[in-house]
Amino acid sequence: MLTEQEILEALKQVEDPDLHRDIVSLGFVGDLSISDSHVDLRIVLTTPACPVRDQMKTQIEEILLAMPDVDTVDVTMDAEVRTSSPTGNIKPVEGVRNIIAIASNKGGVGKSTVAVNLALALAKRGAAVGIMDADVTGPNIPIMMGFTAGFMAEGERGLTTVEKYGVRLVSLGFVLPKLSPVVWRGPMVGTAVRQLLHDIKWGELDYLLIDLPPGTSDASMSLAQEAPISGVVIVSTPADVAWEDACKAVAMFDKLNVPVFGVIENMSYFLCPHCDERTEIFGHGGGRVAAEELGLEFLGEIPLDMKTRVGGDIGVPIVESDPDSPQGQIFMRLAEQVAARCSTLQFATAGVE
Ligand SMILES: Nc1ncnc2c1ncn2[C@@H]1O[C@H](COP(=O)(O)OP(=O)(O)O)[C@@H](O)[C@H]1O
Ligand SMILES: [Mg+2]
Repeated sequence: MLTEQEILEALKQVEDPDLHRDIVSLGFVGDLSISDSHVDLRIVLTTPACPVRDQMKTQIEEILLAMPDVDTVDVTMDAEVRTSSPTGNIKPVEGVRNIIAIASNKGGVGKSTVAVNLALALAKRGAAVGIMDADVTGPNIPIMMGFTAGFMAEGERGLTTVEKYGVRLVSLGFVLPKLSPVVWRGPMVGTAVRQLLHDIKWGELDYLLIDLPPGTSDASMSLAQEAPISGVVIVSTPADVAWEDACKAVAMFDKLNVPVFGVIENMSYFLCPHCDERTEIFGHGGGRVAAEELGLEFLGEIPLDMKTRVGGDIGVPIVESDPDSPQGQIFMRLAEQVAARCSTLQFATAGVE
């Protein structure tokens, strides 16, 4: 007679590659039932954006089918995102399990482009995702997501989230008229950020991505103090000067005790759309080396790509218009990396029960 114990024992061979522990002790195995020689079970991962989901399923099936008393198996792969928000005296954002800030010390490095495409990539994997545009002085998330600036200004209801491409988003750009020169004083920025976080009904979200304004501005500072941020993703370009700027951003988050998940190098190289030749405009490998010197994780590189720029301009991000393109796939991989950082952090802080 086949027992649950024997099955769990066999499944201890399967390890989660990010958490470096077996799926049984991680508590991922659920709804295990055996009838004669048939085994039914459900694997509950910590993120739907798990890169090895399919491999893991195959491995489990192979292990179980190799057992003498098993003839058929039915493995359901599932995910429940847990919270990695820091606790303590920072007020949690209701319903939001992980807050990820996208930061840089310089404008124009592709922060908003990265924020939007990572958000869409996580949503495509089945996560509930939101984007908060905290670049109150130059909100460009509305245009990148296909909205006209100021489209909510006439309404009576005030600022609310809208859904687009499977993602929930809010931007002050929804209520500010197009090209209005916004001059904010420091305390006003802090108030705006606080209201976007706590007064907006975000609903249940696995990941809330926050597009920060460049630099060690008021919005970044107040956000880091107001929001239970799980981690920050720093975006940089490969030029040496940009890396110096990235260092400043890292130093600021360190000082505020906000974990930095790692660095994404954007506009790393140019992939010719005609001949697929790769041109290393700023040289190659500098980003990885610089990240290592800073003791940071290098999350990956994104090439300069015409379609990505056009996608931002016309309001249809590349992950929406062409998820299977090389650039779309790069964003999918990066999203998996970022989700993995949240899972790792959750286990590191909460431990495994
Ligand atoms: N990988 C890329 N390939 C091509 N264009 C890009 C890429 N990343 C960003 N861009 C473009 O560069 C400009 C600045 O990007 P943006 O995301 O607005 O930067 P930031 O938010 O850091 O100011 C935009 O026109 C955007 O479409
Ligand atoms: Mg921006």
